[in-house]
Amino acid sequence: MREGTVTLVRREDYVAPAYRIRSVELCFDLEPAKTLVSSKLAIERNPQAAPQPLRLHGEGLTLLRVLANGESVSFRHEDGQLVIDHPPADDSFTLEIRNSCCPEKNTELSGLYTSGSGFFTQCEAEGFRRITYFLDRPDVMAVYTVTLRADKAKYPVLLSNGNLVEQGELPGGRHFAKWHDPFPKPSYLFALVAADLVAREQKIRTRSGKEHLLQVFVRRGDLDKTEHAMNSLVASVVWDEARFKLPLDLERFMIVAVEDFNMGAMENKGLNIFNTKFVLASPATATDVDFFGVESVVAHEYFHNWTGNRITCRDWFQLSLKEGLTVYRDQEFSMDMSGGASARAVRRIEDVRQLRAAQFPEDAGPMAHPVRPDSYAEINNFYTATVYDKGAEVVRMMATLVGHEGFASGMSLYFERHDGQAVTCDDFAQAIADANPGSALSVRLDAFKRWYAQAGTPTVTARGTYDAESRRYTLTLEQFCGPSPGQPFKFPFVIPVAMGLVAQDGSSLPLQLAGEEAPGGTSRVLVLEHPQQQWVFENVDAAPVPSLLRGFSAPVNLDDGLSDAERMVLLAHDSDAFNRWESAQKLALSRLCAAAQGLGPAALDAPLVEALRTVLRHPALDASFKELVLQLPSEGYVAEQLPVVDPQRVHEVREAMRAQLAEQLHADWIEAFERNATSEAYAPTVAQAGKRALVNMALSMLCLQSQRSGDPVWPGRAYQRFKDATNMTERLGALSALVESHAGLAEPALSRFHELFKDDALVLDKWFALQARAPELDGRVFARVKALLKHPDFSLRNPNRARSLLFSLTMFNPAAFHRADAAGYVFWADRVMDIDAMNPQLAARLARVMDRWRKLAEPYRGAAREAIARVAAKPDLSGDVREIVTRALAEDEANANAQAAAAQ
Ligand code: BES
Ligand code: ZN
Repeated sequence: MREGTVTLVRREDYVAPAYRIRSVELCFDLEPAKTLVSSKLAIERNPQAAPQPLRLHGEGLTLLRVLANGESVSFRHEDGQLVIDHPPADDSFTLEIRNSCCPEKNTELSGLYTSGSGFFTQCEAEGFRRITYFLDRPDVMAVYTVTLRADKAKYPVLLSNGNLVEQGELPGGRHFAKWHDPFPKPSYLFALVAADLVAREQKIRTRSGKEHLLQVFVRRGDLDKTEHAMNSLVASVVWDEARFKLPLDLERFMIVAVEDFNMGAMENKGLNIFNTKFVLASPATATDVDFFGVESVVAHEYFHNWTGNRITCRDWFQLSLKEGLTVYRDQEFSMDMSGGASARAVRRIEDVRQLRAAQFPEDAGPMAHPVRPDSYAEINNFYTATVYDKGAEVVRMMATLVGHEGFASGMSLYFERHDGQAVTCDDFAQAIADANPGSALSVRLDAFKRWYAQAGTPTVTARGTYDAESRRYTLTLEQFCGPSPGQPFKFPFVIPVAMGLVAQDGSSLPLQLAGEEAPGGTSRVLVLEHPQQQWVFENVDAAPVPSLLRGFSAPVNLDDGLSDAERMVLLAHDSDAFNRWESAQKLALSRLCAAAQGLGPAALDAPLVEALRTVLRHPALDASFKELVLQLPSEGYVAEQLPVVDPQRVHEVREAMRAQLAEQLHADWIEAFERNATSEAYAPTVAQAGKRALVNMALSMLCLQSQRSGDPVWPGRAYQRFKDATNMTERLGALSALVESHAGLAEPALSRFHELFKDDALVLDKWFALQARAPELDGRVFARVKALLKHPDFSLRNPNRARSLLFSLTMFNPAAFHRADAAGYVFWADRVMDIDAMNPQLAARLARVMDRWRKLAEPYRGAAREAIARVAAKPDLSGDVREIVTRALAEDEANANAQAAAAQ
């Protein structure tokens, strides 16, 4: 990146703090226009640090007073910091600060802000400095005592971290509450809430016999939508104690839902603050997907209480220490909650799809960075798929290498060593390895840790040869990882390759490696750690089909060189459900890619259609699995595989294949629709959800077919089902079937839906999103999005609403967005700039949808560059967006230079 345009923070520049804050007493007089904050800090010098000025972070604050040990002290402002050149010389002293801030003008939703009629905070990563002056860094941990004062009628509920120690009345209709959190914590885990809320409450007893109070706070009227969040919380508490022996350490654990929130949710100690989207769920208003989202986000934030809060990050470069590990934990929780092997596989497939849709492109684009980044301009831009999802894969690989029990012991050692500390990714990996001496991880820990240091997605190439005479099968694995920004050359990764051999008849072969006395089991984990390695399997009777990377055992691209016939064997018989799904995906992907490049027909061949039919009709496979297999790879995923992308062509090709499946499997879709009806009372279980998903898919395919045949029966049935539906999954499924097939009945259904749900913000988000995600047809979808921008219910201020329309179009609807007339990009640039003026974090997320512009074919590519350059040229652009667009264009410069050099 060009220096001078953005200032970078570097990992190697880390120095321990020169001062520490042991405790803090905060007092808030809450008013929307002007909130007074007084803070009393107990500060200690770090004896290891040279004497130096005390520098406190502060952003957008009005400073009213500073006292050191009760006396006035001179100070100055420098680079957004409050600098006290001559603090008292003692080893410890107190600093009292008074300042004010303006919550109602805080549209960035970072720090203290108002939403609806309440006050809420969001401090991670660097929001606390927008509340008061502080050492706002995660390795400074303090004990907080917080007093809140506010109007009692408007803000009857006053919450902060820890335990309520005092509350009472104040003159003038005001009241106060005093909270104390006994656990030292970094400032990013501070939270307060003052609002008119009600709570669902539940008491639980943990294994030690202690009783705890769980509360879920929502607006009046939303209480009937909190049961699932509470159940998910209870299940999370139980699971963490059973699986990792990690109990709830608080007397009171609170969740608060807020409508305006940049992220999904936040793990503030004892006071998690959630986007309403991940708390509120009722069968009438939330889909199965929403229910699962609530469950996994509640779990994720709860699990942070240990992985994040009890042990936190030394600096923000270590973010994956808490996020990667906690995503791994929430994924494991969700798998355990879903039941049988097949349901677990479905969860794994969904996680891998997410990784491939978001992280693989990131790793191949201008924002590529290691799981533990080396530098950043704006930390908010590094809450990425790499830190989260690839970070979780890195933890998963460690668990694979040390085994289930070994990983649990590693976690225990991690807590024994580091409870109460702010540590690094190295500390975590060391603990897992040390608890498992001699394990496949420990013997190559340094090489394994390259997963933290090197960006990019490695490709593993696998080739097998069978020798009938010696009855040997030789498997050769190679790895390669291309350059990424700042990393021209990569050392080999340690790649666990879970595998098995499948006979042509579908049976699993016993595995005996050369040198072994006898066969042992039908699956193995091979560890690929060199550029190339070979494994020889003995006593193999006939050429087998290798099933590699089972369960997606490493975050790599696999080139397995298998023939269609071999993939068909795996699709029909592999004991690993992930690889069965993967085989179908690869079969479809090869057709899609060939057709998109003009190297093959825009049609699926008969054997593949028959194989898909077999899956759809299969008596033993779960509906949820069928639904995943029958889904063609997304346009985005197809685009990632191509060297040059024409988004319109990809769309055309994929739509043609979808239409073909709609037509050729017509009778099978009807059967799937009828056979998978659920008659039980609604429950968001994997089994029920799988059936609903398959029924919805069948209905979509049947409506799609009607669009071509002109037969009005299925749209009619969809409309009826839409009207009669008793839950949101079915209602939205039927509505989608109509909207996606551009049926005439889509319009009346959409208005009816709006009328029914106009007062429910989360449902209205779905209404916007659905219209923005419909397959493009003659530019109608794009035109509709532009019109919806002016809809009275639309607002860019609410992040959920902005995402529902703009992210749906730009991220999930390539054909509507990437227009030959560049109107999509013009629209994108204008919205990025509009949003940037209010909420830079959100704007930066939207800016990232253009990351992969360099892959586009002309005329898209040139138009995209122009749009990005227009954003980059805006003088008062935020640092957040500037970092994104600078990187997007910088890669172009680097390439232009490289090309120029090559041409000379
Ligand atoms: N700590 C994050 C929330 C956060 C991220 C706050 C970035 C501020 C800046 C929280 O634990 C988290 O990771 N939330 C995710 C959801 C989770 C299930 C992956 C989110 O908000 O998207
Ligand atoms: Zn998290």
